Amino acid sequence: MASDKPRVFSGVQPTGNLHLGNYLGAITKFVALQESHECLYCVVDLHAITVWQEPKELEHNIREVTAAFLASGIDPKAHIVFNQSRVSGHAELAWVFNCVARMGWLNRMTQFKEKAGKHRENASVGLFAYPNLMAADILLYRATHVPVGDDQKQHLELSRDIAQKFNTDFAESISSHGFAETFFPLPEPLITGPATRVMSLRDGTSKMSKSDASDMTRINMMDDADAIAQKFRKARTDPEPLPSEVAGLEGRPEAENLVGIYAALAGVSKSDALQEFGGAQFSAFKQALTDVAVEVLGPIGAETRRLMDDPAYIDSVLSEGAKRAHTIADPILRETKQVVGLLTD
Ligand code: AMP
Ligand code: TRP
Repeated sequence: MASDKPRVFSGVQPTGNLHLGNYLGAITKFVALQESHECLYCVVDLHAITVWQEPKELEHNIREVTAAFLASGIDPKAHIVFNQSRVSGHAELAWVFNCVARMGWLNRMTQFKEKAGKHRENASVGLFAYPNLMAADILLYRATHVPVGDDQKQHLELSRDIAQKFNTDFAESISSHGFAETFFPLPEPLITGPATRVMSLRDGTSKMSKSDASDMTRINMMDDADAIAQKFRKARTDPEPLPSEVAGLEGRPEAENLVGIYAALAGVSKSDALQEFGGAQFSAFKQALTDVAVEVLGPIGAETRRLMDDPAYIDSVLSEGAKRAHTIADPILRETKQVVGLLTD
C-alpha cells in the first residue's frame, strides 16, 4: 500500500436494508477513491449497537455490508476492509474524545434529535456520544478525507472541532513530545455528485432510510429486477412532464430526486439527464430509470449473495483487514496516550 497517497476513512453501519442512498451517497465514492487514495472502509458495528440490534441479525448484517463492499468493487487486498469492534483503538480513542467534546456540541446534533425523538431520556448514552466515536474512527488513522452522504456533514464538522480542540488543549504536551503541531489533521468531507441525499420514493422531502417502515420508500441493494421496476413505477411524481433544465426542478422534490438518481446511476450530470428526458412523461423516464438501476444493481446483488454463501471467506477478509488496520492505529493511539499523560508500555 503506497503510503504517500492521502488517506481515506469511511464507515457504514450494519443495520440491514442497504439501499440506493448508501450505494450512491457512499459506496460508489468508496470504489472510485481507490485509484488515488489509501483507503480504510469499516463496517461500524459499534455504531450499530447505539440502538438495539438482535445479536444474530447483527452478525448477518456485518457480513452483508462486507459482501456488498466487495461486490461493489472494493478491493480488500489493495485497501483495508474490517469491522470496527475488531480494532479496540476505536473505543479507546472515543473515550478520550468523550472527554474532549463538550455536551453543548453534542446537544446540537440533529441526527441525535431525530433518532432519539420524544424519548430522549430513554436513548442510550452511546447514541448521544455517537459522533465522538465517529471522530475516533477517522483520527485513529489520521485520515484526511471522508466520503459520506450529505446527512453526515454535521458529524464531520464535529470531528474537525474535536481534532482542533485536542491539538489546542494539548499543544504544550504535543510539542514537548516532539510531535507535529497538527497532531490530528482536520478531516475533510467528500460530499459530491448528483445523489448526495437520495430521498424516499414516496415522499421527496424525507430521506431514503434503512429504517423506514415501508419498503416501497427505498430501492434496496439486494432488490431483484421486479422489485426495482415495481418501486419506481409506484414512486410518487407530479403531473408535469420533466423540465429540460435543472432550474425547472425547483419546487418539484420527487422529480428532482428521480433525476438525481438517474444521473448518478448513468454516470452523467442532472443537466445531461434533462437534455435527454426534458419534455418526457414520467412513465417513459421511469422505464429508463428502472433499466439503468437493474443494470447497475443486478450484478452487485448477485455477487453479494454469492459471497454470503461463503461466510468463512468474508470473516477472513475482516480479520486480515483488522490486522492491517491495527498496524496503522497502534502507534497513533500510543502517541495519543503519551500526549494525554497516560502511561504506556
Ligand atoms: P448509514 O447507513 O447510516 O451507516 O450510512 C452509510 C453511508 O450512506 C453514509 O455515508 C451516509 O451519509 C450515506 N447515506 C445514508 N442514507 C443516504 C441517503 N438517503 N442519500 C445519500 N447518502 C446516504
Ligand atoms: N455515522 C456514519 C453513518 O451513519 C457512519 C460512520 C461511522 C462513519 N464512522 C464513520 C462515516 C467515520 C465516515 C467516517 O452514516
